[in-house]
Amino acid sequence: MTDWEIALIIPIPPGSKEERTKAVILAGGKGTRLRPLTCGMPKPIVPVLNRPLLEHILLNLVKIGVKEVVLTVSHMPDAIRDKMGDGSQYGIRLYYVHEETALGTSGAIKNAERFLDGPFFVFNGDILTTINLDDMAKRHLEVRPKVTIALTPVENPIMYGIVETDEHGMVQRFVEKPTWDKVTTNLINAGIYILETDVLKYIPPGTPSMFENYVFPKLLEVGEPFLGYPADGYWIDIGTPEKYLKVNLDLLEQRGKSIFTEGESRIDPAAEIEPPVLIGSGCDIAAGAKIKGPAVLGPGCTIAENANIENSVLWEGVRICTGSSIKKCVIGERSYVQEDCRLEDCILGAYVVVGKGTTEWEAKIPPKTFVSPRT
Ligand code: GDD
Ligand code: MG
Repeated sequence: MTDWEIALIIPIPPGSKEERTKAVILAGGKGTRLRPLTCGMPKPIVPVLNRPLLEHILLNLVKIGVKEVVLTVSHMPDAIRDKMGDGSQYGIRLYYVHEETALGTSGAIKNAERFLDGPFFVFNGDILTTINLDDMAKRHLEVRPKVTIALTPVENPIMYGIVETDEHGMVQRFVEKPTWDKVTTNLINAGIYILETDVLKYIPPGTPSMFENYVFPKLLEVGEPFLGYPADGYWIDIGTPEKYLKVNLDLLEQRGKSIFTEGESRIDPAAEIEPPVLIGSGCDIAAGAKIKGPAVLGPGCTIAENANIENSVLWEGVRICTGSSIKKCVIGERSYVQEDCRLEDCILGAYVVVGKGTTEWEAKIPPKTFVSPRT
């Protein structure tokens, strides 16, 4: 029996059958648009403020009383399970349901059917939001449709699925990734649903299918009640490196103008640090280094003399040498930027070495992305 099969037969512990105690997170996508950051790490665990992305989502669910979360995994499942464990550190129970081949957003939920009863939340695994989930759940229980879907306004609906509703807020139509001429609203599918279990009968077992272009339109076709929940609040889909950088800087700014340190680091008194800056444990910041926030340093980063870091996110073990300047960049794990480089708007994968004196123009690698041959 494989580890995965063992994970599947762990019985759900007896406990509260209170509604809203369960959620499923879709964590099986390949994260191709987030490359090179996802070359060696699956999207659901990329570090956001030095914690795995999924941790932020889980803590949001814990706040509203979710006790059991099923992670549907497919791409790099072991890395996700090693990082997230059994959920005990969050006071919840985590289950992993593995898809040998990816089953799509709805196929993944069908595959987790044995874990589900009562209405449950479904979350895309790449969304960070302050949408009021408690209120969304209340609305669902008041109206009791088959599905409630959170809707959020965006400036660029063509990157998402637009959702049209009637004057009572009931969903009328979905258009996934519309062209501009098909855009009739700026309200899009926020990737958060509450489903009644009998929706599962509309999903074919063992075969790939998507909520967005198959199951949801099917529910509308047969006249099942489908509620839209337009929501206020911060919402971001961490689909691209630009969004990844933005979410880190936004969340750090929301924490306030401080220097946040996680454990011991050596910060020379002659280093200049302009908050908000998050510094992981075991960093070494030399005299004359300048860090202008918002900026995030992962654990074990080394910032040498007169290096300059601005509005950037550095992953674990990154080394920036003397005189180099890093602006609006994401630098992957253990990458090494040698002396006197100038990088701006660059996304580096893991284990990249940027040679001495490199500037973005000299590098000439569109779209300013460096991928290590090792990834
Ligand atoms: N388990 C599993 N299996 N998960 C999957 C699979 C799969 O086959 N395919 C995708 N996922 C997960 C991804 O990991 C991600 O967390 C979520 O499903 C959504 O997939 P994306 O690839 O990120 O979709 P998208 O961003 O293009 O569009 C979706 O999200 C938008 C909101 O961000 C759609 O639901 C849009 O309608 C929506 O507006
Ligand atoms: Mg997405």
